[in-house]
Parts: sequence; structure tokens; C-alpha cells
Amino acid sequence: MLIGCPKEIKPQEYRVGLTPVAAQEAIANGHEVIVETGAGQGAGFDDDAYRAVGVDVVDTAEEIFARAELVVKVKEPQAGERQQLREGQILFTYLHLAPDGPQTRDLLASGVTAIAYETVTDRAGGLPLLAPMSEVAGRLAPQVGAWTLQKANGGRGVLMGGVPGVAPARVVVIGGGVVGTHAARIAAGMGADVTVLDMSLARLRYLDDAFGGVFKTSYASKGNTAELVEQADMVIGAVLIPGAEAPKLITRAQLSDMKPGAALVDVAIDQGGCFETSRPTTHADPIYDVDGIMHYCVANMPGAVARSSTIGLGNATMPFMLALANKGWRQACEDDAHLLAGLNTHAGHLTYYAVGKAQGIDVLSPAMALKL
Ligand SMILES: NC(=O)c1ccc[n+]([C@@H]2O[C@H](COP(=O)([O-])OP(=O)(O)OC[C@H]3O[C@@H](n4cnc5c(N)ncnc54)[C@H](O)[C@@H]3O)[C@@H](O)[C@H]2O)c1
Repeated sequence: MLIGCPKEIKPQEYRVGLTPVAAQEAIANGHEVIVETGAGQGAGFDDDAYRAVGVDVVDTAEEIFARAELVVKVKEPQAGERQQLREGQILFTYLHLAPDGPQTRDLLASGVTAIAYETVTDRAGGLPLLAPMSEVAGRLAPQVGAWTLQKANGGRGVLMGGVPGVAPARVVVIGGGVVGTHAARIAAGMGADVTVLDMSLARLRYLDDAFGGVFKTSYASKGNTAELVEQADMVIGAVLIPGAEAPKLITRAQLSDMKPGAALVDVAIDQGGCFETSRPTTHADPIYDVDGIMHYCVANMPGAVARSSTIGLGNATMPFMLALANKGWRQACEDDAHLLAGLNTHAGHLTYYAVGKAQGIDVLSPAMALKL
């Protein structure tokens, strides 16, 4: 199969859909790979790194879209890219179609077979192509929180690990899922005194079994949350209620009970944020002050570490990308119900129920789409 990877054109997107390692695997499996010049630059992969593994580096995205049978990307195709997609072509990338009517209409009009990273599932009921970005955001959260706590940045001037004779920072993580677990591990590794709150007892049991002694756990009742937040130097918001806006777990009134200069890192900002005073910020201007409490609310945290994020995403997408290339999308999806769960559009039909429900569009079952 001819696999193509264009340079991402969404503002501030530095990741790339195919790493040289993934391209090398595809070529070893007998496929041909074309990559747009400069596509990997933001993630630290120059054209020569691709050429070295046998990739044909081409001058334009137009050539990629015109020739490739399988287009591999990171972000949803932008309007100009969507005009170049066609029936019979496979698009493998993040789509997030539910709130995006114009994109949905364009993909349906193009006839492209679009498989969305974010709806591919796994045996444990997880989302294996979203998890790597949650891992990145989780591990990054204490790092940016520690920076926010520094005096020059408006923070409390507290060192995560303390020093001998000086207490470490108190870090509270609300939500002990993928983001929360990785955040807690890194904060504990920096020497902080860490407590994770979650509503799920099953999750708290798991965390206690796996990380007892590394960090503490607490049930996320209103009372426990308020008490821990008052004592915290840093609070990391990492909750998720699938398909819903994040619940507001710290009100503005509660800020006055917190320690002046404490840091709130709201990782759940991409779902509306879990603190009442959160609003989305950018990497260029990531923090702001409300009532003396410093807020960090960057909605695309993985972009700050584009290279690590690209490699993590590439590791997760590679087996699916190879299955699509080796077997063709139909056989690959017939063999793997989890990959079939990623199918969002095919030949002008919408094949993902949640998107159909959100936009009032009729849906063809993915199983039927396989027979078209
Ligand atoms: N800002 C970014 O760049 C970025 C990147 C990746 C993920 N995220 C976001 O981070 C959030 C967490 O993602 P995840 O992958 O860890 O999700 P997850 O499903 O793995 O974990 C969410 C956890 O929150 C818990 N929870 C739900 N409601 C709660 C409540 N009221 N109190 C305490 N705990 C509660 C759940 O029990 C679960 O353990 C999501 O909103 C996700 O969109 C943001």
C-alpha cells in the first residue's frame, strides 16, 4: 500500500503522524511511504531521518493526498485538506467529529474511509490511542505545576521535594485515571507529598495496591476534597465523565480558603475544566491569577513536548496502521472489532452512533459498512 503523511497545518501543532521508526516498519512490511518535506521537523525528525529508512520525501501535501491510499495524520483534517480526500482512500487520525458539523459534512462528501484514533477501543474498555496523550499530560502536570509554584511566576515559592528540614509541597490530584495516576507518580517522584482523590472505590483499591507507599488515596467526597484542597500547595484536576462536561469541583469561593500562591493545574480543561475559575490558556501564555491562586489551563498540553508525544502516539498507532496497510481496512476491521470501533465514515456514510446522535445524521452500522 502507498502510505502518506502530510505536515500538520493546524496552528501550534508540532506532532507528526508517522515517525521514522513507524515508516521503517511499514517499509519492512512491503509498503511504500511518502512524507511531506518538513513534516517531522517540529518533533525533531528531519527529512534525512525519513530518507535514511527508505521514505520518499515529497515537496507538497497535495502530492501526499493525491497519491496515498492510506493517509496517516495527527489532527483532524483542516478544510483545505478535506477537499483533497477521496472515496477509496483511508484516513487514520484524530477526528473528534461529534461537535464538528463542517468536518463531518466534508468527510461524508469526500467518500473517504475515516478511522478516528479517539474511538478505537481495547479489550480492557479503554481508548488505547487517547491514553498516550493522557499519559503525557499527566506526567507534564506536576512539571508545569512546579514551575507555576515558583515565586517569579506568581506562585507560593514552594519546592516540590522540600529540602532536609523543610516539608515538601502538598499535591492533591483529583481523578485517579490515566492522567491522575501519571501525575501522582511524577509528583511523588519529585519528592512531593501526594494524595489522589477519586469517586471510584475500585480505582482507589487499584491505586492503593499498585502505589501504596508512593502516594495516598482518598475518597472524593465534597468534604474530603475541600479539606485537602485547603492544605494543598498544588491541585491537579484530572477527572473525566465520558461524554460530559467536567464537573466543577472547586468553586471560586473556595479559593479564599486556599494557601495564597497555590497552583491549580486543570488538565480537564479540554472538557470545560473542573475548577469554576478555569479558562483555556495557551503555551504562549499558560498561567493567570484569580484571587491570588495561580491557574494553569492549557488545553493541548502534549504539544509542549511534541517529540515525546509523537513517539508515544506513534507506538500506539503503529500496530493499527500496519494492520490497515497489510490487510486493507475491510479485512483489518473484520479481524479486529476494536479497530472497527474507530470507523467513523465510509463511502459517504456516517458509521459512528454518537456522532450521528450529536448531529442528527442517519448512521450505517459499521458491520454493514464492511459489506459495502
Ligand atoms: N489538557 C490536555 O492537554 C489533556 C490531555 C489529555 C487528557 N486530558 C483530559 O484529562 C482528563 C482526564 O483524562 P483521563 O484519560 O485520565 O480519564 P480517565 O477516564 O482515565 O480518568 C478519569 C478519572 O476521573 C474520575 N472521576 C470522575 N468524576 C470524578 C469526581 N467528581 N471526583 C473525583 N474523581 C472523578 C474517574 O473515576 C476516573 O478514575 C480528561 O478530561 C481528558 O480529556 C487533557
